[in-house]
Amino acid sequence: MNILIVGGAGYIGSHVAREFLDYGHEVTVYDNLSSGLRKNLFPGAVFIHGDILDYHALLSAARGGSDAKSAAGMPLFDGLIHLAAFKAAGESMLKPEKYSVNNINGTINILNAASEAGIKKVVFSSSAAVYGEPEYLPIDEKHPVKPENYYGFTKLEIERFLGWYEKLRGIRYACLRYFNAAGYDVKGRITGLEQNPANLFPVIMETACGMRSEVQVLGNDYDTPDGTGVRDYVHVSDLAAGHVAALDYISRKDKSLMVNLGSETGLSVMEIIEGARRISGKPIPARITGRRPGDPAKLTASSRLAHELLGWTARYSDLDTLIKTTWAAYLKNQG
Ligand code: WQD
Repeated sequence: MNILIVGGAGYIGSHVAREFLDYGHEVTVYDNLSSGLRKNLFPGAVFIHGDILDYHALLSAARGGSDAKSAAGMPLFDGLIHLAAFKAAGESMLKPEKYSVNNINGTINILNAASEAGIKKVVFSSSAAVYGEPEYLPIDEKHPVKPENYYGFTKLEIERFLGWYEKLRGIRYACLRYFNAAGYDVKGRITGLEQNPANLFPVIMETACGMRSEVQVLGNDYDTPDGTGVRDYVHVSDLAAGHVAALDYISRKDKSLMVNLGSETGLSVMEIIEGARRISGKPIPARITGRRPGDPAKLTASSRLAHELLGWTARYSDLDTLIKTTWAAYLKNQG
């Protein structure tokens, strides 16, 4: 299939592009490189440098880059993968306008361009942030959706837009609610590092490399085995495989889909820090500080539905693989 990956030069987007290429699909990446990196682009993929806020550039890309239609007047792209949203939950509470413009306005542009270009299948990178404070664990897709941050709110609103574009424009969609993405390509083909990260894994790795002096452990008085926050970390290659399976599902079944993608296991902050010290051999100084507002004690996913409908399971999401593949990427960047 011919796939348009919007945001395909980013951390997750580049792994998704790699997976579609590995399955023999044709890939076009549309990215403004605001956080995506040229080094994350693959020779086998077409690259269009563009912004989702530039509707005409986006529409031209959705039509195949040259406003061309295939001979039969059919759309050139069999599917569009949307991974171009901003994702820093904390920042979204300080700068909601930035998230409204990029995540909401940008997505409306993407849906309108897909609609005008005749693209009928969209896979959307959603987030566990739509659930908010867990009422029960593991979280399944029936769990109430009450986002606690503006980032999660934008993701939930985009899911609702997709429902309407299915009703009114026949666009089939898959919403993939990621839990905590981590790790790097097990074959080492992707090494672009996130810039100014706020998430735990890159913060630990920057500390291991000496790019940061310490890891601040944001609270150790949670109701968890060691008192630190527990999350469901899912390897980015497992997430990428979920995108390929989801597009295949909505293509074969002509039905839309909404599933969690998580490893179904919880790891605490200290477990990850200790694992990183063991694997890297670095001291990785850590200091206990106060809780981060809005952080729940524990978040773990039920991915039973993804397993049932897509045959998806997390293959690389064990602690050691998550740390080893991330550490390998940081070491490569150390030269
Ligand atoms: C993980 C754990 C922190 C940093 C966010 C988004 C979510 C999703 C994943 C996209 C928590 C602790 C963190 C640090 C720490 N994004 N921590 N020191 O907050 O679970 O989820 O990323 O879909 O929408 O909200 O991820 O990596 O920030 O935190 O102790 O310097 O690590 O308290 O327990 P989070 P995170």
